[in-house]
Order: sequence, then C-alpha cells, then structure tokens
Amino acid sequence: LVLILDFGSQYTQLIARRIREASVYCEVYRYDLPIERIREIAPRGVILSGGPSSVYGEGAPHISAELFSIGVPILGICYGMQLLSHLLGGKVERGAEGEYGPALVRATRAAGVFGRFKDGDVLDVWMSHGDKVTGLPPGFSTLGTTDTTPFAAIADDERHIYGLQFHPEVAHTRRGKELLEAFLFDVCGLEPTWTPASFVEASVEAIRKKVGPDASAVCGLSGGVDSSVAAILCHRALGDRLVCIFVDNGLLRKGEAEQVVKMFGDHYHLRLVHVQAQKRFLDALSGVTDPEQKRKTIGRVFIEVFEEEAKKIEDCRFLVQGTLYPDVIESVSAKGPSAVIKSHHNVGGLPERMKLGLVEPLRELFKDEVRAVGATMGIPHHLLWRHPFPGPGLAVRCLGPLTEERLNVLREADAIFEEEIREAGLYDKIWQSFCVLLPVRTVGVMGDERTYDEVIALRAVDSKDGMTADWSRIPHEVLARASARIINEVRGVNRVVYDVSSKPPATIEWE
Ligand code: XMP
Repeated sequence: LVLILDFGSQYTQLIARRIREASVYCEVYRYDLPIERIREIAPRGVILSGGPSSVYGEGAPHISAELFSIGVPILGICYGMQLLSHLLGGKVERGAEGEYGPALVRATRAAGVFGRFKDGDVLDVWMSHGDKVTGLPPGFSTLGTTDTTPFAAIADDERHIYGLQFHPEVAHTRRGKELLEAFLFDVCGLEPTWTPASFVEASVEAIRKKVGPDASAVCGLSGGVDSSVAAILCHRALGDRLVCIFVDNGLLRKGEAEQVVKMFGDHYHLRLVHVQAQKRFLDALSGVTDPEQKRKTIGRVFIEVFEEEAKKIEDCRFLVQGTLYPDVIESVSAKGPSAVIKSHHNVGGLPERMKLGLVEPLRELFKDEVRAVGATMGIPHHLLWRHPFPGPGLAVRCLGPLTEERLNVLREADAIFEEEIREAGLYDKIWQSFCVLLPVRTVGVMGDERTYDEVIALRAVDSKDGMTADWSRIPHEVLARASARIINEVRGVNRVVYDVSSKPPATIEWE
C-alpha cells in the first residue's frame, strides 16, 4: 500500500488515480494522520501532496519529522517537497513571482525517481507554486533543474526521500507516469498487483468474512452502475443469501424496469424482488410541484417501501451500499458542508433504524475502477457507461403536476432523444442528455389544425464530474432530427427547445 498524505492540493485525488492506474493500491489521508497510525498501516511508500499553504504561513499544515526516520521511501510533491526540505534543514523562500504553468526540467542525474530517464533528458512539466526551495537539506542532491528553479527535483539517495517542485500527476507533465512508476516499482519495490480481477477475488473473500456463514444481506438495486456492480460482487460472495430489492417508482426511463429484471433476474440469477410501487409513489406525489418537496417525498416513500420488503427477508443482517472512495476520503480538499441546493435521496438512515450492518464493497474504488471491475465480471458496456440518472428519476424532469400521462409523454420524448444521440455517435462523448417536460402550453399548427400543447426542453451537457458543466455543442442536424421526431411521434408536445445554460449558474437537472 502507498499512503498519500493530503495537504489540500486540488490534484490529490489525481495522484491516487495515477497510482491505481499503475496497478498499485493506495489510500488518501489528511496530513495530520498520527504517526502511530502510519506505523500500523506500514505503507511501502508515502507521498506528500501539494497544497496551497506556505511552510511559514500561520497554521500551515505540518507533519511529524519522525516520518523521515521510519525507513519508508517518501516522495514530496510541490508543497510536500517544500515541507520536507524545511523539516530536514533546507531553505525555503517565497518566490518573487511564483511559477505557474508549463516548464522544462533538465534531468541532471538519472537516479531514484529519475531512474527511468537519461542524464540530459528534457522533460515537459507542469509547475504551480509560489515558494521554492533555495537551499538543500543535508544529504540531498539535485536530480533536475529549470532555468529559474535550480532544485526542481531533489533526492536523498540514502534515505530514499525525494522532492519534486512540479506535478508528475497531471497530464501536462508528459513523462509523469514513468516518474511515478520509478518511485513505485524501483524505489519502493512494489509489484503491479492491484487489478480488477485481484480486487474481485479479495472483495468476495472479504464480503463472505464480514457477513459470516448464515446471515443474509439486502441490496437496493437501481439499475445504475454502482448498485449493479455492488450487487453482482455480493452475489458472487453470498449467492442466494443476497436479496436485491428493485423498487419501480414509476419514474424510470422507457424500458428500464424490464431491462433490470431481464439482466439481474434472468441473466445473473440474482434473487430479485421487483416491487411495483408506481401507484404508491404517484399518489404520494399527487399535487406536489415544489422541487424540494418532490425529492423529499420520493426519498421518504422509497425508504418505507424498501424497509417493508427488507423486513420480509429472513436473517437479514446487512445492507449493501455502493459507496465510492471519493465519498470516503477525509481529505483537506474535500468540501465542507455547503448550502443544500438539492437534497439527494439516499438510504443513509436505514442501517441504524433497521439495525443492519453495512457492506460497502466499492468504498475503496474510484468510478473508473468500478466500471473496470464491472467489465471484469461481464456487465455489459451499455450499462456500465449509461449516463447518470438521478434518484428521484423523471420526477425532477417533469415540471409541474406529476401524472401518469405527463410522465409517459416525457418517457417517450426522452427515449427518442437518446436514440438520436446514440445514432449520431455522441452518447459516450456526452456526460448526460435527457428531456424535460415543461408545464407551459404554446400554440402550434399541425396539418390545418391548431394545437395547444406542452414544451419539451432538450438538455445535454459536457462535464467531468457533474460539479460543473457546459451545454454540449450538439450539431444542429441532430437537434433538428430529435425535435422533428418528438413533435411528430409524441402526442401532447408541439414545441422543442434546447437548453443552453452552463452549471453554474444553472444546474444540470431542472429541479
Ligand atoms: P445537478 O442538477 O445538481 O446534478 O447539477 C448534478 C448531478 O447529480 C445528479 N443528481 C442526482 N443524483 N440523486 C442522485 O443520485 C439525486 O437526487 C440527484 N439529483 C441530481 C444529476 O443527474 C447530475 O448528474
């Protein structure tokens, strides 16, 4: 295991991703992880991340210098390098103007983390720092320099401590991968053993151990990537002692319920409870048009339905959840509590209420790793790469009163838009695309008839993580085809518009 100590860099998760990509397991902790814990974890290597602070700043995050004497290889990146230089007796100064952006580092000595380069190699790197090291700590020597930064990469060969003023984890640092691999494999002596297949094997083992030989577990299956992968993994471990509850809330996309039943029931032979709760949800939502109230109502009814079903399972003592690593990391950079823009629906309170233990087989994984694990277990591409779909489903895309008729109109229009997006080869390039039904009626003309129908808004966005997004520049012809088909094929719609708002200030979903 490689331990990453986070000092608040925006790139900390990227460091973790790069290491996982090299098939080495790593974990991220806040910088103030006690030294005793570090000894217990017994990492094979430690990486000190970058961060926004200055080592001399008030309240700047520090670590115990003891870390340097436990005999583990250490790589300090940016602030991490300044900190280790400072703690080991080097000199760190506030740079006159700092250095931000691309730079060229000349390798002056091919050793340690530079061991896969040749003397004189010139490396494209990404710099982003204010302070810099101006005097080496005793025992250190230079591995690389730039015109303005004499100590761009430094090493203490004896103790295997390295510092980089630039960021090897970002794509702009072209040979960053070789550098990190030199650290992992040559310096730390690790092996590339962290693969999706090895994860599945270890995880099945761990789930069996946790649940024990007799107990059963329940899993809420939504058809989304995370719950699907979690369910199939637990099924491998527990067989029929896993019961999956699929709640059809009547707010799903066209054909979705059938797909879930076919795939998990017929194909994977999971014990699947398909709860037909469409009416119950629609009744509870009748007359509710406020977005927050919709979300809360759906969350509440879901928990009621789920709890009723889970209670019927004999010896059920565990709840399976598809929690991912980004939700678990206690990093400095993780955002604190922020204003509630939309209350997401989850089953957070259930385990305590029902006295269930938690099984979270994906809590060590990033999203791309979840997909890789899913692919290893044979889950089809179209499911693993389906666009994200919100828990409250079509309810937050059907503005105004929620009726079965209006939901059907939305479902049909949405299916057409998805078809056209796929047909144009855009589906995998777009983060999310969907339709929204507006409670606005406008006048149209069809044949010789006047129509007075509702409006569909098309929404498609490009994004990396859903936190920020820009509207997709979909070719006009694709929009034209989708619009023509929706107006012609879906009764109740006579006008289609395209949403050209970015997030922020808009959000991806309309409610
Ligand atoms: P917004 O609309 O806040 O959405 O820009 C950001 C991302 O989150 C999804 N989303 C949800 N996902 N439960 C979920 O699991 C929810 O209640 C929920 N609301 C929004 C949205 O689809 C987008 O990908």
